[in-house]
Amino acid sequence: MATNRTFTMVKPDAFGDGNTGAITQMIEAAGFKIVAMKLTRLSAEAAGKFYKVHNERPFYKDLCAYMSSGPIVAMILEKDNAVSDFRKLIGATNPANAEEGTIRKRFAKSIEANAVHGSDSDENAEIEGSFFFSGLERVS
Ligand code: PPS
Repeated sequence: MATNRTFTMVKPDAFGDGNTGAITQMIEAAGFKIVAMKLTRLSAEAAGKFYKVHNERPFYKDLCAYMSSGPIVAMILEKDNAVSDFRKLIGATNPANAEEGTIRKRFAKSIEANAVHGSDSDENAEIEGSFFFSGLERVS
């Protein structure tokens, strides 16, 4: 059964460009409730752990370097069908393929600097949320 939580990060490009507020506004306007939120910066080692599932992919090293290149804003979001609805809201991984009205269409610069992350499954949403937040840091 689909859970009602997903995990997202505002990536270094979007945070650095001052787009965190506009992105958060789009997220809330789409009906997501923020239940945890944190401004932090990943070390290269932490980015490597977070993206370990992709460690065989050719872009893994670049992705980890990029994700540790500046601050990010991590959030856990709540809504019915959170994972799939959030993937629709952010749009395609490559902004060249992102639909109008999506966060990536508006803010992403490239397939690497693509503004936001969104969990791809309920299981990963829980794993990723727990990577950043303790139980005390999540509101119910
Ligand atoms: S997805 O959204 O998980 O289905 O996309 P996927 O293609 O599997 O990509 C996984 C994450 O890797 C990033 N990515 C890249 N980074 C740098 N260079 C290239 N070429 C590249 N291709 C994909 C992509 O933005 C995904 O990051 P997250 O944080 O999961 O969105």
